[in-house]
Amino acid sequence: MLAVVPHPVTVRVPSKVNLHLAVGDVRPDGYHDLTTVFQALSLTDEVTVAVADEPGVEVLGENADAVPTGPSNLAWRAVQELARFSGRDPEEPRVRVVIRKGIPVAGGMAGGSADAAATLVGLSALWRLEVTRDDLARIAARIGSDVPFTLYGGTALGTGRGEQLVPVLSRHTYHWVLAFDRRGLSTPKVFTELDRLRDEGDPPRAGAVEPVLEALATGDPRQLALLLGNDLQAAAVSLRPGLRRTLRAGVNAGALAGTVSGSGPTCAFLCEDQEAALQVAAELAGAGVCRTVRVAHGPVPGARVIGGEDAP
Ligand code: C5P
Repeated sequence: MLAVVPHPVTVRVPSKVNLHLAVGDVRPDGYHDLTTVFQALSLTDEVTVAVADEPGVEVLGENADAVPTGPSNLAWRAVQELARFSGRDPEEPRVRVVIRKGIPVAGGMAGGSADAAATLVGLSALWRLEVTRDDLARIAARIGSDVPFTLYGGTALGTGRGEQLVPVLSRHTYHWVLAFDRRGLSTPKVFTELDRLRDEGDPPRAGAVEPVLEALATGDPRQLALLLGNDLQAAAVSLRPGLRRTLRAGVNAGALAGTVSGSGPTCAFLCEDQEAALQVAAELAGAGVCRTVRVAHGPVPGARVIGGEDAP
């Protein structure tokens, strides 16, 4: 009897920016308690999963060389976790994952987490698993703190390590300019640098989260711009002092406000509308303060199948 090999499945998955990121003290497990507001952005990766005799991960696109393709790759971890969940051998899943990067590598925009979320969605279609998105989110949280959010997308309030999510009402499409740095930053190092800065002094802290949620409910980008806050920004700037210039250049170019995205080094600039974003992007690209400039909008949906079988 001939075995039917399912068609490859391709999933598009968003990046994220933190509109608000308040970091608590370091916990006994090494993580920090967070209160954060995520917004999913139209800057995306595409991940294709297929049954293959030669299992593994392949990464294509800008800076693909910087992504590990071995067992530490978050997409491969997703393959193993879903194999375990569905009673397959996690050490020998006959799966090939091809990642096309649009999200900067080690850029503070959840690129690796997004690839893991996309892999969970793609594989559950490929293997025809009867799983809900909430089932996948529980598996996602074991892979990384940002994986559940990129699965759901939209706008969400995150607590715990960032993996406990509640959707947030958001009435507007926001327009962003993103400035990629020449090299990435390691997330653990940025958290450690924040602990160090806090031991030595009193780096700035984001205010309360409620006003951010209110601004999102009204949908006024000017109001939201006044409230963007990220406790990790001081640590990212301490490790990469050039980011100060990048942040200034975006605001000088006409952005409403700029913030380091997550643990950085990508800087995200909120703009009045799409036209303003295009103008800011053009000016920033000429300012010589970053490697690449992109425009994006949000919120957008989470990981979605765009080719092949249907998924949860
Ligand atoms: O969860 P994830 O593996 O993506 O986190 C990467 C690293 O970032 C952790 O090992 C930890 O050092 C740091 N982190 C943290 N507190 C969080 C999330 C991440 O300290 N809430």
